[in-house]
Amino acid sequence: MLNFIKEFHNIIGMVILFLLLIIIIGILINLLLKKPFGKFSKILTLSGLILVHLQISFGIILYFLSPLGLENFSGDSMKHTISRFYIVEHPVGMILAAVLITIGYKKAKNTKLSDAKRHTRVLIYYGIGFALISYLIPWFLWN
Ligand code: HEM
Repeated sequence: MLNFIKEFHNIIGMVILFLLLIIIIGILINLLLKKPFGKFSKILTLSGLILVHLQISFGIILYFLSPLGLENFSGDSMKHTISRFYIVEHPVGMILAAVLITIGYKKAKNTKLSDAKRHTRVLIYYGIGFALISYLIPWFLWN
């Protein structure tokens, strides 16, 4: 069970990076071409939101199942870089990224804003979310 969730969490993590990049490029093109915030933009932003929320849910489950999660919490483990990364930095930073992406999605739904502003909101919030997620992936696993 743990291995399955860990593998799923790993794969979805990579898919998210790729998808967020596609979303940012797609929205940027729409902004530059002065396109309306139509079906394409909506599908792009919604797919990113759903996948990030799914990943956070699996991350929270993993936090309670994995020996690197809550189980590893102690004063001593806080002094250890990798332990602290999994107990605090990775979960807190990823949840913050998900909050930013959710805010971006909500702001872009505001039909009172111009299309350009709606695209720009997605670019800002999804862009910061993407940067945060890229930074907090445990890349050291593949070194
Ligand atoms: C967008 C959000 C997230 C992404 C992209 C992400 C990505 C990853 C990746 C790529 C790994 C390495 C998996 C492996 O060892 O094969 C990992 C491990 C882990 N993640 Fe996340 N994660 C996210 C959110 C979270 C959250 C919110 C939590 C906890 C509340 C969490 C808890 C963990 C834990 C405990 C591990 C270590 C699992 C183990 O090796 O036993 N993650 N994460």
